Amino acid sequence: VVDIRSLYGKTGAFTFDPGFMSTAACKSSITYIDGDKGELLYRGYAIEELAVHCDFMEVCYLLKHGELPNAVQKAAWVQDVKSHTMVHEQITRFMQGFRRDSHPMAVLVGMVGALSAFYHDSLDINNPEHRLTAAVRLIAKMPTIVAMAYKYSIGQPTMYPCNKLDYSANFMKMMFGTPCEDYEPNPVLARALDRILILHADHEQNASTSTVRLAGSSGANPFACIAAGIACLWGPAHGGANEACLKMLEEIGDVSRVPEYIKRAKDKNDSFKLMGFGHRVYKNFDPRAKLMRETCHEVLNELGLHDDPLFKLAMELERIALEDEYFIEKKLYPNVDFYSGIVQKALGIPTQLFTGIFAMARTIGWIAQWHEMIGDPEQKIGRPRQLYTGAERRVVPPMDQRK
Ligand code: ACO
Repeated sequence: VVDIRSLYGKTGAFTFDPGFMSTAACKSSITYIDGDKGELLYRGYAIEELAVHCDFMEVCYLLKHGELPNAVQKAAWVQDVKSHTMVHEQITRFMQGFRRDSHPMAVLVGMVGALSAFYHDSLDINNPEHRLTAAVRLIAKMPTIVAMAYKYSIGQPTMYPCNKLDYSANFMKMMFGTPCEDYEPNPVLARALDRILILHADHEQNASTSTVRLAGSSGANPFACIAAGIACLWGPAHGGANEACLKMLEEIGDVSRVPEYIKRAKDKNDSFKLMGFGHRVYKNFDPRAKLMRETCHEVLNELGLHDDPLFKLAMELERIALEDEYFIEKKLYPNVDFYSGIVQKALGIPTQLFTGIFAMARTIGWIAQWHEMIGDPEQKIGRPRQLYTGAERRVVPPMDQRK
């Protein structure tokens, strides 16, 4: 605790907490993490149970409404989401302004931000119905926009949403189908994708969620707030880690080179870090990483890729790191991104789009957190303080006296 009265001549004490290591910025009843136990609960339900017994739409309902839906509620919710999967035709034109080799996250930031200009009927944030409509629109349109960004990058026509399919199967069809062929998503792979979405759906006050809350605390447009969250997620220390992790595995290339990279990760004079390892909150195994490893097995088996060299490399890297004193002492375990890149690659998703899939999954978490914040009577505009380290007050010198 730093007393800054001397600096500002006011009473009161401020905490100086770079990276918000130990500052709670809000109250929330959505997600609970016990980093020491490796426990993650959405609205009180363990992620392990949700991943097995629920689909992504049920998890979205749970995060948004606080309870799991019964059959009637689920059917109505799914129908509601399906009725919003299309995007305005002008949005497709907007996308055509991007270079085809743009990073998909740049396209997503722009496209989701642009949604704010389209839906004036869901912009009164003080109206709960408007908030719900904005939430449903975002959940429904994200897969359409992510798939559009992909199709655009490879020069193929955009696929319309196929609303007779479930959420994840529809996304796969928009990604991998073409207008002239009957593409049937493989149910095992669609289920694996659904599980990726469940595992990434929320993670309390991480950097991107905090960004959404901070942006939203000023009363800003919800689509613009989610665009801010997407921008934050893009960074390699956050959602960009799955892309960075797969690139790292490809760079290592062979099991025999694992020790060399472990050595580099431990070298303080080398900026290299083992991507997909370590977490601000989990100081034990990330429960999502365990589930992702299982999903990885299922997907590789389904595709007959059990001898996949990248997967073997990842397993070996994990084995060696978990026996290494450095990683043990610093409590560095694989996080969810360690295996998700391999699963996504096996599903046919290009590396550059991995973080876009993460954004698609996290949209429900962002919007649920935003919704909770707007409805909180104690909510204030987020406004961190600082410890000023610059010059003391001084006089502006005339131009000819400046150095
Ligand atoms: N490889 C090697 N050393 C590491 C790693 C790693 N992956 N992660 C942390 N360390 C070391 C740090 O160098 C630091 O060492 P020091 O105490 O000697 O200075 C110590 O472990 C603590 O790490 P911090 O970076 O201070 O921990 P922080 O909580 O700030 O960072 C983070 C967590 C950003 C996730 C970090 O572990 C990291 O960069 N990991 C790689 C990127 C990654 O996988 N990110 C995904 C996170 S999960 C998600 O976003 C879904």
